[in-house]
Amino acid sequence: MTTSLGALFDADCLDVLRCMKSGVIDTVFADPPFNIGKDYKNGYNDKVSHAEYVAWCRTWILECCRVLKPGGTFFLYATPELAVQFAPIMGERLDFKHWIALTMKGTFPRGKKLYPAHYALLYYTRGEPRVFNKLRLPIQTCRHCNGEIRDYGGHRDKMNPAGVNLSDFWEDTSPNRHSRFKVRSGVNELKLIIPERAILISTNPGDIVFDPFGGGGSTYQAAEKHLRQWLGTELYDAVHIRTRIEENYTFSAAREPSFELTDFFNYEDKQDSFLRGISGESMPPRTGTYFS
Ligand SMILES: C[S@@+](CC[C@H](N)C(=O)[O-])C[C@H]1O[C@@H](n2cnc3c(N)ncnc32)[C@H](O)[C@@H]1O
Repeated sequence: MTTSLGALFDADCLDVLRCMKSGVIDTVFADPPFNIGKDYKNGYNDKVSHAEYVAWCRTWILECCRVLKPGGTFFLYATPELAVQFAPIMGERLDFKHWIALTMKGTFPRGKKLYPAHYALLYYTRGEPRVFNKLRLPIQTCRHCNGEIRDYGGHRDKMNPAGVNLSDFWEDTSPNRHSRFKVRSGVNELKLIIPERAILISTNPGDIVFDPFGGGGSTYQAAEKHLRQWLGTELYDAVHIRTRIEENYTFSAAREPSFELTDFFNYEDKQDSFLRGISGESMPPRTGTYFS
């Protein structure tokens, strides 16, 4: 599918990444499958050997590093156990900025372990970040009495009226468990504020975001909402992403992107059928078949 700001490919992210030019993306946001046997209800096999999984992750992580512009940013969402394995791979090409801890309630302690209460959002940049927008959170108020919750050590009057600086500990990120909020059961889609903050921190309007694991499409919605361009891939079932974008951004959906796909893709291997698709010879908007 395409919108006036983006393009989603029904394809394996590695196939698409391998066709992308180096240094063309401002921000990568990735929320991969975790190899925990999760049923995505779309045919994806989320349980292979650990060695196979890590080897696969290494390949797409390094590809994502390659497509980043100098000064670009890579956010990678993972369990702490996976994040410690992903971080050294990202560190081969990029500079560490933050391990953002995101509260994740509703999980269960297994075996001789502490109760897991956070996920990691790894934040790396390719050299000095080109964009770093300081975000602020509104001063917290009580939802019953509307009064402010904290007294800020008596320095409330000196605080910025726009709110407090966003820290590397995000407390408002637990997923919506209620089915009313879900786009697709089983996808485990992220709360919109997670990709939204990542995009707002690291890009300006008109910049381009890439998310290799579309899922329920939260990254693409965040990009549309804030007028960022975007590219994405989802191997298994993109119909819910399409519905989500069409429902929320009716005017943007059903359009061809305002950018040239040729700016992002190489054409060296003309034999490859999906490159022929990208080149525009068979590019019906909203079909999502560029790569099939
Ligand atoms: C954890 S979900 C992403 C959820 C997404 N961040 C959201 O908030 O909606 C991971 C997704 O990656 C997709 N996927 C798995 N392997 C893929 C591959 N090789 N290429 C593209 N997508 C893939 C799965 O089908 C699944 O929908």
